[in-house]
Amino acid sequence: PPMPLVDPFARPISYLRVSVTDRCDFRCTYCMSEHMQFLPKRDLLTLEELDRLCSAFVGLGVRKLRVTGGEPLVRRNIMQFFRAMSRHLGQDGGPGLDELTLTTNGSQLARFADELAECGVRRVNVSLDTLDVARFAEITRWGRLPQVLEGIAAARAAGMRVKINTVALKGFNEDELFPLLDWCAREGHDLTFIEVMPMGEMGEEQRLDQYWPLTELRRRLDERLTLTPLTERTGGPARYVRIEETGQKIGFITPLSHNFCESCNRVRLTCTGELFMCLGQEDRADLRAPLRDSPDDALVRQAIRDAIARKPKGHDFDYSRRQVSGQVSRHMSHTGG
Ligand code: GTP
Ligand code: 5AD
Ligand code: SF4
Repeated sequence: PPMPLVDPFARPISYLRVSVTDRCDFRCTYCMSEHMQFLPKRDLLTLEELDRLCSAFVGLGVRKLRVTGGEPLVRRNIMQFFRAMSRHLGQDGGPGLDELTLTTNGSQLARFADELAECGVRRVNVSLDTLDVARFAEITRWGRLPQVLEGIAAARAAGMRVKINTVALKGFNEDELFPLLDWCAREGHDLTFIEVMPMGEMGEEQRLDQYWPLTELRRRLDERLTLTPLTERTGGPARYVRIEETGQKIGFITPLSHNFCESCNRVRLTCTGELFMCLGQEDRADLRAPLRDSPDDALVRQAIRDAIARKPKGHDFDYSRRQVSGQVSRHMSHTGG
């Protein structure tokens, strides 16, 4: 087998996030602006090209592939791509992928749940910031909550586990902490809270207004419940605790209040074939040119190794001293979180 990918800080890179489209059927206010300019379709890699690129990563030792967007399930014929990737799912510990999964807003899940399960997807992460119909329409700008809840139910009916991702937003879903926990406990979903990251063109004041540090959320939980930290990781950035009273597992993704970059294991591929070595930095490498220049993957593999050799130490996001620094003007939807 080839030498695995290792970055300059000795971090093995085993997790690829691939954004298959920059489009989305929602416009979450912290993620996109109301009038997004989407890429012209001719700039997109074809599904065959995405297959070739991702397969090259698998050949270089990537073990976990997460499909993101925009909203991955709005890309035309996306099941063709999932089917292509499913051929890399191997025996645990054997060559190939350990996990093929996706992060979705859930709007199209009811349609695709069965096919995803057939492709070997065992877990989906669904973004859901509120259980209130009016608030849901507000944060997504026009999304319909019942459609997402149907999607989640379909995923479970198809045998997949569901992890709910909730972005913690001050003044928006603070009062839903316990309702969300209760709902997830009842439904049997895992739940992860995420600190809002300063990406996109939103102003500093708005960013500061909406930042709800998870240290505060955690304190609120501690007042009422007994939390036991778990050492288990899913290969992503979340840290997990168990709530003793309910047995439920919840995760925290805290890029700001507790930086986890030192254990970063991932890079991000966009739908135009750019590789971002860090979510919080603008540096990227073009993999489309080497892909199109030669049918032989040697050039692509070399371009991937060169890119990994430039992976920065981490992001510079910081909200301290009542100022936002490290902001990245690229929208979250470009790299899929
Ligand atoms: P699992 O652990 O496999 O469930 O998934 P995950 O947490 O890696 O993926 P998911 O797509 O659910 O991501 C949840 C949130 O974590 C998103 O808001 C991502 O932007 C954020 N996130 C994922 N990786 C990184 C990272 O390297 N740096 C930062 N700052 N945030 C990340
Ligand atoms: N900060 C944190 N999380 C974000 N997401 C989108 N924009 C941001 C942001 N600025 C989340 C989505 C989804 C995941 C992929 O990223 O809610 O769960
Ligand atoms: Fe779409 Fe996800 Fe961004 Fe919301 S967070 S606009 S669902 S890509």
